[in-house]
Amino acid sequence: MQTGPAIRLEAMVDILKAAAEPSRLRILALLSRTDLTVSDLTEILGQSQPRVSRHLKLLLDAGLIARHQEGSWALFRLSEEEAAREFVDGVVARIDPMDPASDRDFERLEAIRQRRQERAAEYFDKNAASWDQIRSLHVPDAAVEAGLKELVGEGRIQSMVDLGTGTGRLLELFAPLYRRGVGIDRSREMLAVARANLERAGVTNAQVRLGDVYAPPVERDMHDLVTIHLVLHYLDDPAAAIREAARLLRPGGRLLIVDFAPHSHEFLREEHAHLRLGFADRQMLDWFAEADLEISNIRGFAPKGEAAEGLTVKVWLARDRRILVAGGDAETQAHEEIA
Ligand SMILES: C[S@@+](CC[C@H](N)C(=O)[O-])C[C@H]1O[C@@H](n2cnc3c(N)ncnc32)[C@H](O)[C@@H]1O
Repeated sequence: MQTGPAIRLEAMVDILKAAAEPSRLRILALLSRTDLTVSDLTEILGQSQPRVSRHLKLLLDAGLIARHQEGSWALFRLSEEEAAREFVDGVVARIDPMDPASDRDFERLEAIRQRRQERAAEYFDKNAASWDQIRSLHVPDAAVEAGLKELVGEGRIQSMVDLGTGTGRLLELFAPLYRRGVGIDRSREMLAVARANLERAGVTNAQVRLGDVYAPPVERDMHDLVTIHLVLHYLDDPAAAIREAARLLRPGGRLLIVDFAPHSHEFLREEHAHLRLGFADRQMLDWFAEADLEISNIRGFAPKGEAAEGLTVKVWLARDRRILVAGGDAETQAHEEIA
């Protein structure tokens, strides 16, 4: 019985040849967990860079993986092409994760992820007090915030969750709309600033909690609005964060993501702990589809004149696909068209 799209015989032989080698299978298994650079893979596999590059080229030529350039980094990921992806998923799922080679690879992968996340955490702990000021260096805040309010609309929101809330800015922005707001962040220093800001702004219907966006400490399936504002580019696995965020939504609930369009400002990586240099719409749409969300709106806010450093802020608004119960609330307002 055929379950997915068919692959031509010759292409199948190329695919099988490309995958039928221990290092390349290990690479596929690693990329099924996250996007990686050549130097990540070199470190994990314990092989020379030219050797790893050769393996990657064979996998690329067979269409099993894709290469994505972000500034000076080339990131490798599994192909999004359906037939290739199904093939890789099927093969990888059958590799025993307790196999000593896989086990060691995943341990090293974890160490790399840990190191990246620690770097970002250190950055936020250090910059908590001045974050709002740093933020305004590269984001035309007022324009974006006005755009966000317009996109979200004025309908009453029962419950909002802001993932990676930082100084609590979005909780403050939407406080007049929601009944209950929760902000999650894994930096205690950021949370301390958020608490002070919310108090100063007289916001009494929100609280902030220590927690990770990969496992947010809030109930699932019950929030009208989940926001991820300028957080994804610090994350090692944005797709996983989107999946987690989607799980928090009630049927028909909305996920609002704000981040940068693809750019090449390498200094943000070096000086500001960014892991990703922006996100393409295509990438975001794929992640939404994987998380069972449908896109309702995309907007871009390009910097004007010589202001900012050429970073375009993008807003992606998506919606949980499950049908709302008849007679729902303000959230039933018409879907906006994709801009
Ligand atoms: C750039 S700040 C943005 C803060 C806020 N959303 C805003 O736009 O002002 C990113 C925030 O994400 C938090 N963060 C990064 N990785 C996280 C994770 N894995 N779990 C929870 N918070 C995280 C950081 O501590 C930081 O406060």
